[in-house]
Amino acid sequence: MCGIFGYCGRRVAQPILMEGIRRLEYRGYDSVGIATLSGGRVFVAKKKGKVSEIAHQFAPAALPGTLGIAHTRWSTHGIPSDRNAHPHLSCDGKIAVVHNGIIENFSGLRELLEEKGHRFSSDTDTEVIAHLIESFYQGNILDAVRKALKGVEGTYGIAVLHAHHEELIAARNGSPLVLGIGTEEFFVSSDASAVVEHTKKVVYLDDGELAQITPRSYHVFDLKKGVKEKEVSTLAWDVQEIEKKGYKHFMMKEIMEQPESLQNTLRGRLDKDVRLSLSGIPREFLARVQRIMITACGTSWHAGLVGKHIIEKYAGIVTEVDYASEFRYRDPLLTARDLVVVISQSGETADTLAAVKEAKRKGATVLGIVNVVGSSIARDVHGGIYIHAGPEIGVASTKAFTGQLAALFLLAFYLAQLRSKPVPRPGMRQLQNIPEVIRKMLADTAFISAIQKIAEKFHAYPNYYYLGRGVNFPVALEGALKLKEISYIHAEGYPAAEMKHGPIALIDENMPVIFIANRGGAYEKIISNIEEVRSRKGKVIAIATAGDKLMSQKADFVIHVPDVEYELTPLVNVIPLQLLAYYIADLRGCAIDQPRNLAKSVTVE
Ligand code: F6R
Repeated sequence: MCGIFGYCGRRVAQPILMEGIRRLEYRGYDSVGIATLSGGRVFVAKKKGKVSEIAHQFAPAALPGTLGIAHTRWSTHGIPSDRNAHPHLSCDGKIAVVHNGIIENFSGLRELLEEKGHRFSSDTDTEVIAHLIESFYQGNILDAVRKALKGVEGTYGIAVLHAHHEELIAARNGSPLVLGIGTEEFFVSSDASAVVEHTKKVVYLDDGELAQITPRSYHVFDLKKGVKEKEVSTLAWDVQEIEKKGYKHFMMKEIMEQPESLQNTLRGRLDKDVRLSLSGIPREFLARVQRIMITACGTSWHAGLVGKHIIEKYAGIVTEVDYASEFRYRDPLLTARDLVVVISQSGETADTLAAVKEAKRKGATVLGIVNVVGSSIARDVHGGIYIHAGPEIGVASTKAFTGQLAALFLLAFYLAQLRSKPVPRPGMRQLQNIPEVIRKMLADTAFISAIQKIAEKFHAYPNYYYLGRGVNFPVALEGALKLKEISYIHAEGYPAAEMKHGPIALIDENMPVIFIANRGGAYEKIISNIEEVRSRKGKVIAIATAGDKLMSQKADFVIHVPDVEYELTPLVNVIPLQLLAYYIADLRGCAIDQPRNLAKSVTVE
């Protein structure tokens, strides 16, 4: 949700800032803005639109200097427009601010500032920060920012510059910010992926911290107290990982990366035993855990639903799953014997982060399954499993989902092992082999062209059902979500048997129904559900086990997936659903990596 990028060094800032926000554009893409500092003056350019559409209007000559801040917006307060685009300026035009987050008390502050004579020129909550800093400014910009932030309620990651100071101030409360530490140059970014091409040395700011950056040095301060010593971390990501590598979209690249990303999730963690190092969570505790509560949002929540099935099955621990946005406000019943598992690709989702805090407040132990190393959630949990899927830039989550599933299998097997339950050896061996199975699927041209043909036939249909049972019901939800978010087609996922309780009313010849119908599980029941749809003229597309001839008779179209242990089928079933959504969206000409209204990382409630 909004991307912030800042540069302070010896190079010309404009191209570095443009590239920085281009890389952060997955966080929001309704408007773009830059402010630079040169010769005691602030230069600003801002526009509604995407970086690629308006880059030519940000001429380097109009944005001189070696220090600057930039922003790509996902609007919360005020429609996408030139005047609401960041940076926002103080009345005298000397202070420029970019912001990610929500200032909850902005209307009160705005009234107060207007009474004092401040004139506002946007509808955003952010603009109050610029004016508030101006009202406190007495020659020291760090001091003014610190004083202003004491009066601000809500969430923010901000970067600020002042015409008379060759320095950049950054501050964080609830919205991520990372400092990139180069040689005589420094970067501020909402996300480490945008600094990795410049430096691998980073400092993660924590809530309540602010940083003062000059071309020669940086210092981090606590909002209330003095200087803080911060650890410098080294990024493991490589710059190639954040490029499209010849693919038309990041989403396709990330789908194709799944054999490798899954290999990375599993590497070193699975041979004849499962090895997890959950540093802050003692094994003795895990061996006695009474109940597991999984909480997450969106696709990560779908992974959590699969997790419930497999943890209950293998480890025999009662497991519940809740949306993080519900969990955080419903006063959940938790005890010190409960384990809360949070799942998040970005590690920055506001509701999931709040759920971590709520669980900790109630005395539960919190385990994170996270992709982004060093993210807020990763740093806040007691222990966790990094999925090591590499940067996921396409807004629709793909490789993170399969990585989360693999991590949940590892956790389920590990818990079973600790509790002396029989750990299923064939399942473990097959999980080990899953990256290879998926590699073959993605290299199989017949498999890909079967999906493309279905996409060609059905891409204009306005509604879809996705039906699955048991461990594949969450996969139905995930398939429907993928289609909705990138193709703007209405799609719903249901447990197949629930169809009779209402949704069946919508079945007719215009309704494609995608059944997840592998052999095993409730296969016979699914066949009956397919008959029910066929007898109402619905179009049946089945994801079925390789070699299933019966399914070829029952369904209008069949996509065959490899025959793996039933519990592992979500890992193979989701692949054709990701591809189907992709090809349909592409045929409809949709902006696959930047779907309307969406942002990759939801850092506001
Ligand atoms: C869907 C998608 C979202 C995220 C959700 C949680 O494709 O990407 O539904 O899964 O916003 O995000 P994380 O996992 O970063 O907490």
